[in-house]
Amino acid sequence: MTRIISLTALVAALVASSAARPSPNTHAVHEKRGAISSRWASSLRVRSDADVHVKIGLKQNNLHRGHDMLMDVSQPSSDNYGNFYTEDEITEIFAPTDDSVNAVKSWLTSSGIHDLRITHSDNKGWLAFIASGEELESLLHTDFYEYEDLETGDRNIATEQYHVPKHIQEHVDYITPGIRFPFLRNPELAKAKRSSSSRKVYNTFQSRPAPPGKIHGAKNTTTGCDEVITPDCVAALYQIPKRTDTPSPNNSLGIFEEGDFYTQADLDSFFTRFSSYKIPNGTAPTPAFIDGAKAPGDIAGGESNLDFQLAYPIVYPQNITLYQTDDSYYAEGYAQGLFNTFLDAIDGSYCTSCYAGECGNSPIDPVYPNNNTSSGYQGKLMCGTYKPTNVISVSYGAAEDYVPQSYYERQCNEFMKLGLRGVSVFFSSGDSGVASRSGCLGNDSTIFNPGWPASCPYITSVGATKIPANRTASDPEVAANDPAGHPYSSAYATGGGFSNIFGIPDYQADAVANYFKNHNPSYPYYNGSILGENGGIYNRSGRGYPDVSANGDNIAVVVQGEDSLSGGTSASSPIFASIVNRIIDERIAAGKPGPLGFLNPILYQNADAFNDITEGTNSGCGTDGFSTAPGWDPVTGLGTPIYPKLRDVLLKV
Ligand SMILES: *[C@@H]1O[C@H](CO)[C@@H](O)[C@H](O)[C@H]1NC(C)=O
Ligand SMILES: *[C@@H]1O[C@H](CO)[C@@H](O)[C@H](O)[C@H]1NC(C)=O
Ligand SMILES: *[C@@H]1O[C@H](CO)[C@@H](O)[C@H](O)[C@H]1NC(C)=O
Ligand SMILES: *[C@@H]1O[C@H](CO)[C@@H](O)[C@H](O)[C@H]1NC(C)=O
Ligand SMILES: *[C@@H]1O[C@H](CO)[C@@H](O)[C@H](O)[C@H]1NC(C)=O
Ligand SMILES: *[C@@H]1O[C@H](CO)[C@@H](O)[C@H](O)[C@H]1NC(C)=O
Ligand SMILES: *[C@@H]1O[C@H](CO)[C@@H](O)[C@H](O)[C@H]1NC(C)=O
Ligand SMILES: *[C@@H]1O[C@H](CO)[C@@H](O)[C@H](O)[C@H]1NC(C)=O
Ligand SMILES: *[C@@H]1O[C@H](CO)[C@@H](O)[C@H](O)[C@H]1NC(C)=O
Ligand SMILES: *[C@@H]1O[C@H](CO)[C@@H](O)[C@H](O)[C@H]1NC(C)=O
Repeated sequence: MTRIISLTALVAALVASSAARPSPNTHAVHEKRGAISSRWASSLRVRSDADVHVKIGLKQNNLHRGHDMLMDVSQPSSDNYGNFYTEDEITEIFAPTDDSVNAVKSWLTSSGIHDLRITHSDNKGWLAFIASGEELESLLHTDFYEYEDLETGDRNIATEQYHVPKHIQEHVDYITPGIRFPFLRNPELAKAKRSSSSRKVYNTFQSRPAPPGKIHGAKNTTTGCDEVITPDCVAALYQIPKRTDTPSPNNSLGIFEEGDFYTQADLDSFFTRFSSYKIPNGTAPTPAFIDGAKAPGDIAGGESNLDFQLAYPIVYPQNITLYQTDDSYYAEGYAQGLFNTFLDAIDGSYCTSCYAGECGNSPIDPVYPNNNTSSGYQGKLMCGTYKPTNVISVSYGAAEDYVPQSYYERQCNEFMKLGLRGVSVFFSSGDSGVASRSGCLGNDSTIFNPGWPASCPYITSVGATKIPANRTASDPEVAANDPAGHPYSSAYATGGGFSNIFGIPDYQADAVANYFKNHNPSYPYYNGSILGENGGIYNRSGRGYPDVSANGDNIAVVVQGEDSLSGGTSASSPIFASIVNRIIDERIAAGKPGPLGFLNPILYQNADAFNDITEGTNSGCGTDGFSTAPGWDPVTGLGTPIYPKLRDVLLKV
């Protein structure tokens, strides 16, 4: 939804009626919109001689086959297990067909848009041209209006519905300008730099000062892990062996960060504290810096330090690749979207491919080159610049409804494509139990609010566990659930529940059915498309998450030179991802192909490779949340990893 021309240039006059134009019966309504927010004020007709940038998103080919293709390479019982696709193959399979391109082009040229005016994006995702207001209205048999967001001043050209020839419909995803409106930006963010407290919508860590002397690892793992989780405690919990093998040069662990930075001094202090891991000072992640991002930072961030201080003791001497994303203008300031520029950088076709009305990046995403010359990246948007690592861990996220549904669906499809390429993607499940940091849904805020991207069925969602007081690393853990003030300032409960967007995928259908059959939650639920129907507070037919869990409470870290205890599902994702990364090194050492791709099918088929967590709940929305139970549950998933068993499972395939 490009906004190119100033309001005054576009607008001609107030128009009294917005009656739809007649359209020929060769045409059909392609898109029709519903109600829009009262923040959008309109009634000004687009001027007939205005220059309007028009973009026609072409339908991706084969997208409906993507799920089955992914299962075909991810189900161990399949003949094609592990036969992953290359980036070029993925681009080719999903690119709109030449037939689509030609059909749309000939419609345009026969409507008077000369071929020379039409630009075709590099990877075939869309066609673009500049049309006058009059040409656009006549092409789509409708009237266009200029709208303005009364709170931010954002502008958008749109119509209530538009038409295209019937034979073109199967080729066109959507047209902009059309019926779409950009995500309503938070007026505070639109006016001012994002504050550090609002940035915490994204990453998911908790922290507090450590009790003096406690993070030195002075206590042994039998007695001290209930107070402080050291690298030894993580190793003891999940039976991770001391590393003696030689890591493969092709298996760096990928970690995503945005707007939060590690510092070398803190990493060095941490390595020195836990010197038995023999990680030399100066050990730092390999940069894969995206769109002007820089690291390390001047000021240490709680997220990055936590991620690296957890991952290095597990994977070292394996390298870690840091996908630090976005220039400081966006990463620390003005962007509301997340992950799209990262995904662009590891899959060039994502830069322009279209899905459900999102074509390339959304208006809530960063724009490059950035016209802010002091803090902006002046280069072009990075597209396919980096190869994704075999394993990627992301400890950032928010609620499903934090971004438009089409934005989320397009991203989730991209995680599917990464799985097809053999990449295993892990996300933290969120720190607000059945709620999200933005609260709960419904008029009374009583409806559970699932997490984005934690609820995408093509990623592995990782929840958090903890060792309760007076237990050891060999005792069962419980779901992480700490009330406000104990020990962190705000309440923290591991994220879990059921999606309002994605249905229950086959790989977890039995596990979810077992939970409902044997441990039916007492809450009323809804099961159709109406939120809160029958007083329900969760979606009985949504994808359940998390898939797995790992410790996420009282973790020893050094941040800004201070000993701290950190927690959150932010810790759990890098722990689990590091374990998978180690196992991939073992596969390579055994002469097997390294990449494992999308892991959920194999994980759900091997529940005995996990410590089943059966104590605790994930409170939120004024309830105790869901309860853990034997088997999979929407609190801790299948449970925490048992390294030797998981290795056996993953070395067999
Ligand atoms: C851990 O500490 C306990 C209590 O001091 C002691 O009995 C045990 O032997 C120690 N274990 C190890 C492995 O050092
Ligand atoms: C890690 O990166 C360093 C620096 O690029 C390189 O010398 C080393 O071989 C890498 N180690 C592995 C295991 O790939
Ligand atoms: C690493 O990857 C490169 C190129 O992708 C390949 O030539 C090399 O054989 C791989 N090395 C190992 C140890 O797998
Ligand atoms: C490593 O860095 C830490 C923190 O700056 C420092 O205390 C320690 O002496 C250094 N160790 C070596 C071997 O230089
Ligand atoms: C550029 O961005 C910085 C913040 O990153 C801001 O302080 C400055 O005002 C911006 N300059 C312009 C011209 O927008
Ligand atoms: C800079 O870009 C923003 C959004 O991309 C736009 O609103 C603004 O008008 C641009 N400023 C200049 C001076 O081009
Ligand atoms: C919220 O209130 C409106 C107006 O009373 C009602 O139409 C809607 O169904 C309510 N939504 C929910 C989820 O209860
Ligand atoms: C843990 O053990 C200590 C010492 O025996 C005791 O004071 C405390 O109440 C115990 N805490 C819990 C939660 O059981
Ligand atoms: C519940 O989940 C399904 C997916 O199975 C979805 O189609 C439906 O819209 C969701 N209901 C609500 C109210 O979000
Ligand atoms: C939810 O709706 C689906 C489709 O209508 C149906 O098959 C299923 O049995 C329903 N589940 C519950 C728990 O009502």
